[in-house]
Amino acid sequence: TLVNLADVLADAAGEGRGVGAFNVIQLEHAEALVAAAEETGLPVVLQISENAVRYHGALAPVALATMAVANRSSARCVLHLDHAESESLVDEAVALGFTSVMFDGSKLDDATNRETTRAVVERCHEFGVSVEAELGEIGGKDGVHAPGVRTDPTDAAAFAHETGVDALAVAVGSSHAMTSRTATLDLDLIARIRAVSPVPLVLHGSSGVDDDSLVAAVRNGMTKVNIATHLNAAFTGAVRDFLADDPTVVDTRKYLGAGRAAVQAETARLLRLLAAT
Ligand code: G3H
Ligand code: ZN
Repeated sequence: TLVNLADVLADAAGEGRGVGAFNVIQLEHAEALVAAAEETGLPVVLQISENAVRYHGALAPVALATMAVANRSSARCVLHLDHAESESLVDEAVALGFTSVMFDGSKLDDATNRETTRAVVERCHEFGVSVEAELGEIGGKDGVHAPGVRTDPTDAAAFAHETGVDALAVAVGSSHAMTSRTATLDLDLIARIRAVSPVPLVLHGSSGVDDDSLVAAVRNGMTKVNIATHLNAAFTGAVRDFLADDPTVVDTRKYLGAGRAAVQAETARLLRLLAAT
């Protein structure tokens, strides 16, 4: 079942729970994530990034497949466009039936980011689609960001009020695409932003954050927790093990199935960890 991001986040934030948001690249990701949501009875955010769209060459094939997986399940699934820098891609996602988009204007100058985000919010809200935006570059993407970037609480509150976004991604010490869970979060800053933000907060680059710090981040006020690289590591590790154990296998279902099972197990574990805090 497809649900709206703002509703899922409002419920979770009200109860001090975190919601897992995981990236879909292959069909197997979508199947694993939805199965984990079903298994745990918890909502999940299925996100497709502009980078994944570039890989597939188009949004519709991967999006419609993901939507079909979500729609045949009773689990509450948000279909979310992740890190969209292109306004036309946002419009395409809305037309396809996404229930949420992230407009990433972090590379724009501040005034243009505010103005463009506000316009995106107006268009999306007309169709009941939630909008997440980013303030303050979050480290690691494209190699041009640094993990030392921080969002200012007053600025975050003003940005959210001005733009009307439903969720705000903030820079608090995490960094994208880390393959070790060694990031140090500024927990005090999370609490200070949460205290003044009118909308739920989003942690990007959570693959670099260990279990204890994820729990602490949610306790201090994070609601949507984005994890991509960590699950790809689980997927790839299982495929690598399968191929090493059986070097003559040719049926792609055999080793991709092993990857899918590994992603489901780790997603279910993370959903429970984030929801239990
Ligand atoms: O938007 C997606 C996330 O921020 C994922 O980052 O691959 O470092 O977990 P990650
Ligand atoms: Zn991100």
